[in-house]
Amino acid sequence: FSAFLTDSFGRRHNYLRISLTEKCNLRCQYCMPEEGVKLTPRGQLLSTSEVLTLARLFVREGVDKIRLTGGEPLIRPDVLDVIAELKKLEGLKTVAVTTNGMNLSKLLPKLREAGLDLINISLDSLVPAKFEFIVRRKGFHKVVESIDKAVELGYNPVKINCVVMRGLNEDELLDFVQFTEKKPVEVRFIEYMPFDGNKWNFKKMVSYQEMLDQIRQQWPNLERLEAGPADTAKTFKVPGFKGQMGFITSMSDHFCGSCNRLRITADGNLKVCLFGNSEVSLRDVLRSGASDEELLQIIGAAVGRKKKQHAGMFSISQMKNRPMILIDMSGVCR
Ligand code: GTP
Ligand code: 5AD
Ligand code: SF4
Repeated sequence: FSAFLTDSFGRRHNYLRISLTEKCNLRCQYCMPEEGVKLTPRGQLLSTSEVLTLARLFVREGVDKIRLTGGEPLIRPDVLDVIAELKKLEGLKTVAVTTNGMNLSKLLPKLREAGLDLINISLDSLVPAKFEFIVRRKGFHKVVESIDKAVELGYNPVKINCVVMRGLNEDELLDFVQFTEKKPVEVRFIEYMPFDGNKWNFKKMVSYQEMLDQIRQQWPNLERLEAGPADTAKTFKVPGFKGQMGFITSMSDHFCGSCNRLRITADGNLKVCLFGNSEVSLRDVLRSGASDEELLQIIGAAVGRKKKQHAGMFSISQMKNRPMILIDMSGVCR
């Protein structure tokens, strides 16, 4: 495995998340402020060919999974081409997207044709009015339709991301678990994480332990499932249910020790940790006409500076980072 993608703690980074856009058709409260964010001028965003050049280099060095994120990745007009081109890269086993599901239903057949392997969809409430309050837009039925269609097309499991916030949707955990009875989906309950502009506070965060206690009262026989070495979620199943549930515990029990992820933001910065604020512009290096070797030196140096773990929830809630929409809207420091 490439020394450039191995950090000083021996973590091998074989999973790259690429943000395709800063734009989104929703305004989720946990992701961005109501007024939106200041967008980077178009010329400073990575072009299709720059995305593919970087992807090729990372795959050559050992990346075998790429997840396309945003903003909302499916609003980028070239998303199908990007997926089809990525699928040609030898060594890349998995191409995934994380989406809000608003435009997914109609695009699904083409996404599958292009070779998309995995789909994660955000859905934070099963109550239409509450969904609309959280995402500050309409669209509940479109998202549910997308989930059903992804299941129909054979994506298994479709992962459903639910950011749990006290006072908003923590009363829906049991309904979400019930949702997994008949559908082969994995509902992931995500601890609310702090990012710039999202008004996080400790009291709004519902911890893994609290969620699990609540669910175990209803289903005492929950079964713990095995996790892969670098999975973000701790997974469980109600015996007999088709689907399962996961908990993403970035705040109460971080999983930095097995982190295998790197991220490239839509404006071309390499971000070695979701909660790290040191970034390096790969776009500028590319545009200076640098060789692959020069790029790799810069990537390797950034990976080499990656910290052992994030600084703890209170420190990261005070540090300068980006709003989630400008990182990859769907993740933690894994
Ligand atoms: P899989 O590839 O299916 O494991 O997806 P994922 O869970 O890595 O990605 P997704 O985009 O669905 O994100 C789900 C949640 O995981 C989001 O809340 C992300 O913020 C969080 N997440 C993703 N990557 C990281 C990370 O590097 N660190 C931490 N702490 N959380 C992450
Ligand atoms: N805390 C936890 N998860 C978040 N996401 C976005 N913002 C946050 C946050 N503040 C999740 C969404 C999306 C995924 C990419 O990141 O669920 O699906
Ligand atoms: Fe859009 Fe995702 Fe942010 Fe919601 S969380 S506003 S869907 S980018």
